[in-house]
Amino acid sequence: MKKIIIVTLGILVFVAATGFVGLEFAFRSESARTYTVKEFSIHEEVAVADIKLGQRMYAVRNGCIDCHGPDLAGAVIMENGAMGSIRGPNLTPAMLKDWTDEEIARAIRYGVGKNGRTLRFMPSFDFKGLSKGDIAALIAYLRSVPPVEAAGAENRFGPVAKGLSLAGKMPIMFPAKYLDLNEGFAGKPAEAATVEFGRYLAQSCTGCHGQEFRGGPIEGGDPSWPEAPGIRFGASANWNEAVFKESIRTGVSPGTKKEMRAPMPVKLLQQWDDTELTALWSYLKTLN
Ligand code: HEC
Ligand code: HEC
Repeated sequence: MKKIIIVTLGILVFVAATGFVGLEFAFRSESARTYTVKEFSIHEEVAVADIKLGQRMYAVRNGCIDCHGPDLAGAVIMENGAMGSIRGPNLTPAMLKDWTDEEIARAIRYGVGKNGRTLRFMPSFDFKGLSKGDIAALIAYLRSVPPVEAAGAENRFGPVAKGLSLAGKMPIMFPAKYLDLNEGFAGKPAEAATVEFGRYLAQSCTGCHGQEFRGGPIEGGDPSWPEAPGIRFGASANWNEAVFKESIRTGVSPGTKKEMRAPMPVKLLQQWDDTELTALWSYLKTLN
């Protein structure tokens, strides 16, 4: 009897260990794959780009600040046993001085790092619809800030993050794997209170509210986060432009009368100006 128990235990330990080694091996080989992006050039656009626009995109419109920090020296994204210890790296000139403008653009737009490997946990999906001029503005801004010498620790991913990403359930882990690397840059409508500009801006909501703004559990999110609600406002009689703007400015949901919880980027949206919010509303209300 004792022998059987010992043998059974031995087998269980063996299976668990090979499973672990298998997961580790698969995660490493997926991370080590290299990717080729269609050739492009952007340094001419960067040379004449609008640094102020880049700063607004970084800190207000596109949420880079939440992962890369207010001083651009990096910030903690998540820290727990299941997901791991994940931070956004330093983007100041101290770190990016050896990168070409094209390499930085490739990282933002296609999720491919300087070494040709996929960046891990960088949401390039949310930026694939940005125009070349807007990405040039971001790069001009990154180049303009004071350098901060902070190396930052290597990201470590937990077993849940590894398992989900290998099962294809967490695309943010391997953005380059899922993006079309032959697709060029998107166009950009004029900055005005229009449906078209609203659609352009609303891309920064898709990472949480979904490609079609239907809401649901946030992909790649921390297990403690609430689900994102649907924001197809044409389909709801309870929303109008005034209610929408009020909810963004106060950070309170008109339905529940409660403060919107993290990770809804309330602090960033509170800085959107009237043109941006009107454009956003004009677009969201077209969705039924
Ligand atoms: C959800 C968090 C998150 C957001 C939002 C985010 N990033 Fe990142 N970013 C990361 C992580 C994590 C990496 C590191 C990936 C790696 O090293 O594998 C990264 C890497 C990068 C890199 C490559 C630098 C390097 O050392 O690898 C650039 C450039 C970059 N991000 C720019 C941006 C810009 C610009 C924005 C906003 C338009 C942005 N990021 C928004 C998390 C984020
Ligand atoms: C990082 C994830 C994230 C991003 C990016 C994000 N949201 Fe949200 N949003 C949430 C979550 C989560 C909630 C629910 C909060 C709660 O239940 O307390 C929410 C709630 C809302 C609500 C309240 C809806 C209701 O029914 O009460 C609105 C409106 C909203 N978001 C609009 C936007 C818009 C517009 C954008 C893009 C400009 C955006 N969000 C970007 C995560 C996000």
